[in-house]
Amino acid sequence: MGTGHAVPEKLLTNADLEKIVDTSDEWIKTRTGMEVRHIAEEGEKTSDFAAEATRRALEDAGLDAKDLDVIIVASVTGDMQFPSTACFVQDKLGAKQAAAFDIAAACSGFIYGLSLANGMIATGQAETVAVVGAELLSRITDYTDRSTCVLFGDGAGAVIVRKTDDPERGIIDTYLRSDGSLYELLYMPGGGTNVPFSHESVDKKLFYLRMEGREVFKYAVTAMGEAAELILKRNDLTGDDVDLLLPHQANLRIIDATARRVKIPPERVYVNIQKYGNTSAASIPIALDEARKEGRLQDGQLALMVAFGAGFTWGSALVRF
Ligand code: COA
Repeated sequence: MGTGHAVPEKLLTNADLEKIVDTSDEWIKTRTGMEVRHIAEEGEKTSDFAAEATRRALEDAGLDAKDLDVIIVASVTGDMQFPSTACFVQDKLGAKQAAAFDIAAACSGFIYGLSLANGMIATGQAETVAVVGAELLSRITDYTDRSTCVLFGDGAGAVIVRKTDDPERGIIDTYLRSDGSLYELLYMPGGGTNVPFSHESVDKKLFYLRMEGREVFKYAVTAMGEAAELILKRNDLTGDDVDLLLPHQANLRIIDATARRVKIPPERVYVNIQKYGNTSAASIPIALDEARKEGRLQDGQLALMVAFGAGFTWGSALVRF
């Protein structure tokens, strides 16, 4: 029904990163496609951007916060361990009728959230659901590690999903998968019950994201390609039927490989990685909002979304707008 996004004003360019770590604009651009990221200022919180993105999505949908039955926030960088960031969003919006909860599926979080929203609406538990992807990854990024710090940005994107009787529109299908055996390729060791906060764990930098980029890359290419291919096949569709592919924005080379696998040409692939970097759960809803506002995805058109992230988790969604 509506889409919105909100990102911090402060920018971190490749040139800025050249001053912080041993890297170059050339390396970052050719290996990832990234040029700029938005980074939160001190005092700005994940829920600030999540709430603003949801407010904009509600406005776009012509709805009010009191119309929301459920707020789902997908994030691995919430304001606090608890309560959920969704509860802060509920309060900021004054969404008095809404249930609110977070889900943690890392970069696949938005697809997982969309699937949940679809299920809640289909089973009559809700009529109007906000699905929000929101991250301040800069808060868990080690800016002395060049292999990760060039990759991540902050921001939030939101969509409003609502019950419809129109058989031609809506969430056609979602596909979700996971493999926890590979968690050590992308994770943050500290902060949970496994490695609680202590002077020692802070000194060991256990509260920063860690990633084996090359390994993650290989799995991401395979899993995103499979997720895109499978959901099309089981709905008797091909890449030709897709008006716009909205892949998770982690690396331009992964995006290109995913599009090639389902034979979708570059002009039908949405890419904004150069402006935001990898914003994890926020990347697809930010892309979706931009695509809608730019007229690249119009009513009646078919969107294919596909994501891969820590866990590992991955999945895809087919939506007719
Ligand atoms: N600047 C300059 N050089 C860098 C660098 C940087 N920021 N980061 C790493 N390098 C160097 C490495 O040290 C390595 O040098 P070596 O060959 O002398 O050892 C070289 O560049 C190649 O490193 P590698 O890790 O193999 O590069 P890559 O082509 O795999 O690109 C990533 C690295 C992280 C961009 C890429 O692997 C990736 O995008 N991975 C997946 C990310 C992802 O999807 N993450 C999350 C899912 S949400």
